[in-house]
Amino acid sequence: MSEYYWDSKIEYLRNTRWLYYNDDYLEFLVQRVWKIEAPVRVVDYGCGYGYLGAKLLPLLPEGSSYTGIDKGRELLREAAELFGNTSYSTIFIQGDIEHMKPERQYDIAICHAFLLHMEQPIDILQRMIDSVVDGGRVICFEPHWIAGAANQEFGSFPHSDGVNLGVLQKLYELDANRNGRDGNIGMKLPLLMSQLGLRDVACRVSDKVNFLDQNMEASAKKRLFDALRDDGIGLEPPDENNMIDRLIERGLSEEEAQAQYAAELQLSQVVNEDSWLTYAPNMKISYGTVGERSL
Ligand SMILES: C[S@@+](CC[C@H](N)C(=O)[O-])C[C@H]1O[C@@H](n2cnc3c(N)ncnc32)[C@H](O)[C@@H]1O
Repeated sequence: MSEYYWDSKIEYLRNTRWLYYNDDYLEFLVQRVWKIEAPVRVVDYGCGYGYLGAKLLPLLPEGSSYTGIDKGRELLREAAELFGNTSYSTIFIQGDIEHMKPERQYDIAICHAFLLHMEQPIDILQRMIDSVVDGGRVICFEPHWIAGAANQEFGSFPHSDGVNLGVLQKLYELDANRNGRDGNIGMKLPLLMSQLGLRDVACRVSDKVNFLDQNMEASAKKRLFDALRDDGIGLEPPDENNMIDRLIERGLSEEEAQAQYAAELQLSQVVNEDSWLTYAPNMKISYGTVGERSL
């Protein structure tokens, strides 16, 4: 069994991706926004088990290909299995993207929930750009955690009792300044893309608002509740002392850390399968064109 962290997170990835986009929205992006009408060679950075490939290949013109790059051997084994019985043209490459420079041979470089984990995201974005031919595109689906945290409602339980936006805002900024990994990178990518020379840069927001409706069918409700939990909504906080120490290490005062623990605990006690709840993950989808030519 692999010891690589993401190889042990396949179930989490499989259980949560469907919270982010409705299929018709992805179709809208491919056909109406990006207007992809001829076959394209796509490379997916940090492809995981191939989630984006599975969503995009059926929408792309016949003859398109998908290359997934990831560090996780188990994830890539899963991806190879997912596409094994299909007629899609796929290649999976195992490696550490921080030490790779893929050749300029793709029409589209994409990533999903990947750049937020990079210590040098600008450097990696530049590699993505460098792997795309003149006139091709770079498309990044990345989170904007503070917007995701703001876009939650818990029925009669006050949002501000369970989600302290000010403290979270501070934590996310401190973390990003300390180690480069930025859970809000989605909102910064349009700026970074333009500064790195992409043209026609634009950004969309994910469309899906998840609604835990107490009138919905029981198995659908359970599936949604489990996915929301996996995505961190109303999750029980870990051991109190450890969590408070860790928050202080990350830059909160003792008082802020205790209040944050208390808020998360309270929220975990009121959020359950019988709660009314809405949550919009607010992923940001940034894209831009490489070079002067249009494909
Ligand atoms: C949050 S997961 C997203 C996976 C997939 N894009 C998805 O959304 O389902 C982050 C992915 O980035 C990959 N990753 C992180 N650092 C990497 C690196 N240095 N080189 C290659 N892959 C990396 C992980 O293995 C993991 O699959």
